[in-house]
Amino acid sequence: MTIRVAIAGAGFIASIHAKAVKNQPNAELVAVVEKFEDKAKPFAEEYAIPNVYTTLEDLIAASTADAIIIGTPNFLHASQSITALKAGLHVLVEKPMALSVEEATRMDQVSRETSRILMVGHCWRYDREVNWLREQVAANQLGNIIRTKGYGIHENWGPKGWFVQKDLSGGGALMDMGIHAIDTVRYLLGDPDPVSVYAQIGTYYGDYNVDDTGMLIIRWENGTVSYIETGWWQPHSDGPEAATQLFGLKGYGSVFPSCLALPDLEHDQVEVIDNGFVFPREEHCEQEMYDRQVAHFLSCIQEQAIPNSSASKGLANMEILAAAYKSGETGKVVWLKDA
Ligand SMILES: NC(=O)c1ccc[n+]([C@@H]2O[C@H](COP(=O)([O-])OP(=O)(O)OC[C@H]3O[C@@H](n4cnc5c(N)ncnc54)[C@H](O)[C@@H]3O)[C@@H](O)[C@H]2O)c1
Repeated sequence: MTIRVAIAGAGFIASIHAKAVKNQPNAELVAVVEKFEDKAKPFAEEYAIPNVYTTLEDLIAASTADAIIIGTPNFLHASQSITALKAGLHVLVEKPMALSVEEATRMDQVSRETSRILMVGHCWRYDREVNWLREQVAANQLGNIIRTKGYGIHENWGPKGWFVQKDLSGGGALMDMGIHAIDTVRYLLGDPDPVSVYAQIGTYYGDYNVDDTGMLIIRWENGTVSYIETGWWQPHSDGPEAATQLFGLKGYGSVFPSCLALPDLEHDQVEVIDNGFVFPREEHCEQEMYDRQVAHFLSCIQEQAIPNSSASKGLANMEILAAAYKSGETGKVVWLKDA
């Protein structure tokens, strides 16, 4: 069965999704929904998309699609997802899935009521190196993981436009970059529930009403504690824009670079396993990751399966973000579960 896919938005991420859809044998890129025609037309030409609409309602009325990938500004994610789900479309919505926990909860509920797939673009779950490290963790190569360090940081740059307007984005670097670091470590750890969040969050590098600097400490139900840094315009990043380190009782593991370091204290040796991964990559956010994400979306539609980055996983991330912003305001630990 060929799945007819539409894309909402004709901006940065939409191009990556368009290429990803084009790379699938079981999908056809049938439409783009973009508010501005002068953006929509060249986009449709570049990716040979036959239908152009300026509103989601026009797409729905034309019945040209089975599924939609939503790559619009954050404030539109909830309303567009809900409209599309109610019209019978399966939805892959970009991260963050919504502006708030309330919106995300409603989206999850509508997806259940309509029996349509709602998947969130937590793309690192589809990365080959992240999945390799997750397999090592699941095989207990590192032993119990005591603590983790991770970040999502833009070094010496940051986005503009709707990204730096709170009513349109919901928040700053934490919503934009921190969410990747949070979701990646949660995935690596096997999706434990968060127990508590402490955060220090601020705005230092620009004249806008969203955060550009943050540090979080998340305690998970399995006892692991994660330290997360997030930011735009930071004068330094420890590596590429996203990375995670895991410190276990038996050893250390990381992406990126992707490797394990397994100490043998008796023989004063450390075995390093890197699985042949090249670091740094040519493209840190490589197209193949997004191709695998879309392939997963299509297979969930075909098999009526729950996506790896399901709405409830996206919702858990939204709960962590909300707790972090609250902690940032109050200076107190926010408890999400009894310790
Ligand atoms: N997963 C990732 O790696 C990744 C990377 C970048 C962005 N994103 C996410 O993708 C989303 C879009 O980010 P971007 O960088 O592509 O933004 P962008 O500003 O480049 O593109 C957004 C597009 O949506 C269009 N738009 C605005 N209102 C619309 C409407 N009502 N209907 C249809 N289109 C409308 C805009 O005109 C624009 O072309 C954000 O949620 C962002 O967080 C994810």
